[in-house]
Amino acid sequence: MCGIFGLVGSDKNAASVVLEGLKCLEYRGYDSWGVGVASNGQIKIDKHSGKIGNSLLNLPEGSFAFGHTRWATHGKVTDINAHPHLDCSGKISVVHNGIIENYQQLKLELKNHRSISETDTEIFAHIVEDLRKKHSLKEAVRLGFLKLKGLSAFLVAEADSETLIAVKNGSPLVIGLGDKENLVASDAHSLIPLTRKIIFLEDGQLAEITKNKVRIFDVQTGRELELKIEEVTFKAIEAEKEDYPHFMLKEISEEPKVLENILLNLKESIIKFTDSLKNHSKVYLVASGSAYFAALAGSYFFSKIAEKELIPVAGSEFIYKEKFLDKNSLVVFLSQSGETIDIIEPLKKIKEKGIQTAALVNVFGSTLYRLVDEKIWLEAGPEIAVVSTKAMIAKLAVLGLSAFSFNSKYEAGEKLLSQTISNMKDILKQNLDEVVNFLHDKEHIYVIGRGISYPVSLEAALKLKEACYIHTEGFSGGELKHGAIALVDKGTPCIIFAPKDESFDSVISNAMEIKARGGIIIGLSEERNEVFDHFIEVKESGDLTAINNILISQLLAYKIAIKKGLDPDKPRNLAKSVTVK
Ligand code: G6P
Repeated sequence: MCGIFGLVGSDKNAASVVLEGLKCLEYRGYDSWGVGVASNGQIKIDKHSGKIGNSLLNLPEGSFAFGHTRWATHGKVTDINAHPHLDCSGKISVVHNGIIENYQQLKLELKNHRSISETDTEIFAHIVEDLRKKHSLKEAVRLGFLKLKGLSAFLVAEADSETLIAVKNGSPLVIGLGDKENLVASDAHSLIPLTRKIIFLEDGQLAEITKNKVRIFDVQTGRELELKIEEVTFKAIEAEKEDYPHFMLKEISEEPKVLENILLNLKESIIKFTDSLKNHSKVYLVASGSAYFAALAGSYFFSKIAEKELIPVAGSEFIYKEKFLDKNSLVVFLSQSGETIDIIEPLKKIKEKGIQTAALVNVFGSTLYRLVDEKIWLEAGPEIAVVSTKAMIAKLAVLGLSAFSFNSKYEAGEKLLSQTISNMKDILKQNLDEVVNFLHDKEHIYVIGRGISYPVSLEAALKLKEACYIHTEGFSGGELKHGAIALVDKGTPCIIFAPKDESFDSVISNAMEIKARGGIIIGLSEERNEVFDHFIEVKESGDLTAINNILISQLLAYKIAIKKGLDPDKPRNLAKSVTVK
């Protein structure tokens, strides 16, 4: 979480360039933001709580600027707690992504410094200030960083030397090499409008960035390292909403196109991936949030279509299962951003043990993309809305095709996915007003499905929580009656996924059980059923119908959020890329 952007160059408008960079990074956190610029040997700062929106900067001109978008961890969302933070002299300033776990202890050692904010970050400015008395800026940051516990990425700016120091251990930082200017940011996409020559800073590395030079050092030893410059080829972020009112709707509407691209370009990678699955007796699918529900759905695809067991595990829980890994295991990580700490941490740990790893990942060049042995780049294009939609659908399609491929039926999978795409185009035009009007003011909703529709229910519930702030619980149809049915009362809304597969009869019985207790049934199925009080028709696509049902859930959540007057692109308390534990 948190976005970092910095520039040392010759353009006097550096602060505005930084502000544009921060707008690209706001998906990482949007509680507050701030920009610093060097002017007359001091750092001048403009920072505010809230989103950037159309804000204008109140800063002097300067060719050396840096900034931050915040997702608060330590300290409330206030102007004062927004980054950048200054040392006592006003010459050294820091922005930070991560958590300093030992900050309380370190703060005690900084008694003669003046701390203004409630953040853990600010103490680092004072630590560097002390060390700077005896060391170069680079050494002061390096030695200071070694004192910190936890996972962090920092950008430290010094007004006098017009030098930026980037250092990291955990959260991403990418250096951009420009023409008479150098840059640093939390992701490569935000740098693309300015340069395509980049260096991915690795954990435990520090970069000294001036207008004409970038040098990289090992944090532990201080030894200078060779620059590994890469030329990135991917397109600049299409950060325009085009004619859509929100990114969420734009990204949902792009889903048929994303799947067409998968059919066109990913066949070879999918078949190769399937071969790896065949070569490992134990395969884990590890992911967080929506990606975890894609993993869960993938395990159902594989058990039904390929008759192969894949073990889905939530990223944050995986360390507790790690002892079962051996040389016959393959761990497949699924992620839109490729930066989620809950998967990056176990990935690094198991790599040390020599376990084979793979990934389905949407962000090219992300930490996950770079660390795994084998990857499928989903190429769904940038996802800006915080809630994941098209990347989730892309993962489902790749997992579905892989299951067919595993059974040497890739062509059958292709055919079914083409049919799914055509159904999705119809679904996108469907009118959902009746159900949106019924659900938008509800406080609690239950969602049930069986088999593959169980992960669909979990994802539908997640979307309603994230985008609409409605307490929604997803259950397998069978489990609801083992406890949660006690909460069903007169008028309790229950969404039922009832595709015409092997789960149909049982889930309809579950719907009856809910209705008998006063629940109101919203049925999602190919045909109307007498148990449904409200009905949404969902065209089926055989074993891939889950994709259609996920699409309907995304549309429902979007439309309910709009009806409630919420911003589905930036829901409260969330961030798109969660890089803290
Ligand atoms: C955050 C987002 C979720 C997302 C999850 C995993 O919590 O708010 O929408 O599903 O991260 O993200 P990833 O980038 O790893 O797919």
